Amino acid sequence: MLASRTLEENLRQAAGQRAFIDLVELRADHLLPSEAAAAASFPAKVGLPCILTVRRKIDGGVFDGTETERLALLGKLVGAGFAGMDVEEDLQAPDLDAAARAAGVAVIRSFHDFSGVPSDLAQRLERLPRNASEIAKAAVTPRTSAQLADLLAAAAAGGGGRGAPRVILGMGDLGFPTRVLAARLGSAWSYTSPTSQGVAPGQVTPGTLVDLYRFRSLRPDTPVFGVVGNPVMHSRSPLIHNRGYAALGIDAVYLPFQVPDLEAFWATADLLAIRGLSVTVPHKTAVLGPRVSGDEDVRVIGACNTLFRSAAPGPWSGANTDMEGFLSPLREVFDGRLPGGLRAVVIGAGGAARSVVAALTAAGARVLVCNRTVEHARGLAEAFGAEYAGLDADGLRAAGKGADLIVQTTSVGMAPRQDLDPASALRFRGNELIYELIYAPAETPLVRRALAAGCRVVYGWQMLLAQARRQFLLFTGREYPRDLMDALATPSD
Ligand code: ATR
Repeated sequence: MLASRTLEENLRQAAGQRAFIDLVELRADHLLPSEAAAAASFPAKVGLPCILTVRRKIDGGVFDGTETERLALLGKLVGAGFAGMDVEEDLQAPDLDAAARAAGVAVIRSFHDFSGVPSDLAQRLERLPRNASEIAKAAVTPRTSAQLADLLAAAAAGGGGRGAPRVILGMGDLGFPTRVLAARLGSAWSYTSPTSQGVAPGQVTPGTLVDLYRFRSLRPDTPVFGVVGNPVMHSRSPLIHNRGYAALGIDAVYLPFQVPDLEAFWATADLLAIRGLSVTVPHKTAVLGPRVSGDEDVRVIGACNTLFRSAAPGPWSGANTDMEGFLSPLREVFDGRLPGGLRAVVIGAGGAARSVVAALTAAGARVLVCNRTVEHARGLAEAFGAEYAGLDADGLRAAGKGADLIVQTTSVGMAPRQDLDPASALRFRGNELIYELIYAPAETPLVRRALAAGCRVVYGWQMLLAQARRQFLLFTGREYPRDLMDALATPSD
């Protein structure tokens, strides 16, 4: 989608994305009036099939003139070499339709819903085309997980088809998977934006779609995996898993699923025949229920970050790869095995801390949990036979004394608190090991302080990769490529 104010800038953007795109849409409603008047030259200059769109404000566009002016602009440009023209479902303009037909321009008959997903989406798609040559397009906005399932079900029902190409997509974060899964949904194409801030909510850049999600090689039956969370669009897991599939030539795609209501998500998992899911905040505990039979780690921690199953639909096996993901980089530091009697301080007492304390105590470490709310520290410590203290000066003094390992598990140091250090009163001796679970930014204020004091550091990225590596094995039966892991583990923001 090209939505700059000048033709020149649109041409520049299209040229910049040439390797990733097969088709462009000129959003003439975004052009300055003088530029719109000169847009007849655009199709020949851009050198790719081009769709002409002059979107009204009620459909998410910015066209400022009257409806008569809009139709006049469309009428003037329709014969200028455009491959397609996107017009709205309720538009009654027989002359324009006839002009498009005469010029061999495909008519895309579209409707937009920015508030939700209509319950009769399949029927509406069916009714959209006015003749067999028109292409039906629905752009709707799933607001709940149930609405995403409705959208997928409507796509599966084949609405708007009659064998003709059609496009069906979900806008916004919840709809993001539909932009990647165009082949699965029977969409003839997907929309991207050359700038990372898409014109329509949820759009990504062509490079992300083609490079990361391998859009061009996805087929209707490509197996789908993903991560469920809320929020989840910032997750690095799609990067890790999709890069792994690409390196090993595995036909699969891994998507972020923004899930506000977990119960309603299972329909989507079944509609897409999903066989493996990563689970992240806030669903790691809520996910445990009759659908999931968890392994020993899941029972000990009371949280599950990995779901997999041998057939979809079907029951899920639950695993927790956080414990192993946490321990694995530590073992590497200690040449394979944690030293007996390791004295560890764990800062924080939330869900992440729970996996860490479980892993450390199981590995024979002596653990002190330091937390802002002492009661939380106590609850966690007592569950695993650890000690506890507050995060105040007294607690930190005790913590600093003989610690071999300090693990930071809170979200302090991550945006919007990226300038804060949750344990600024903790003095480092220089010979202790610091393990920071935050992976973005790669260096938190606490890590910078530790490095300055001469401490060795284990980074959050290393844990993220180690837990993802085990998930990858559970999902695909294949080992994650070692060289790729090393490449991804290099800290970067
Ligand atoms: P997660 O599941 O990711 O660990 P969580 O369960 O919300 O997230 O846990 C957050 C942890 O960060 C808690 O230990 C919390 O301390 P409290 O138990 O006192 O709430 C800690 N935390 C959050 N904000 C903090 C802050 N500003 N200073 C210190 N600790 C903080």
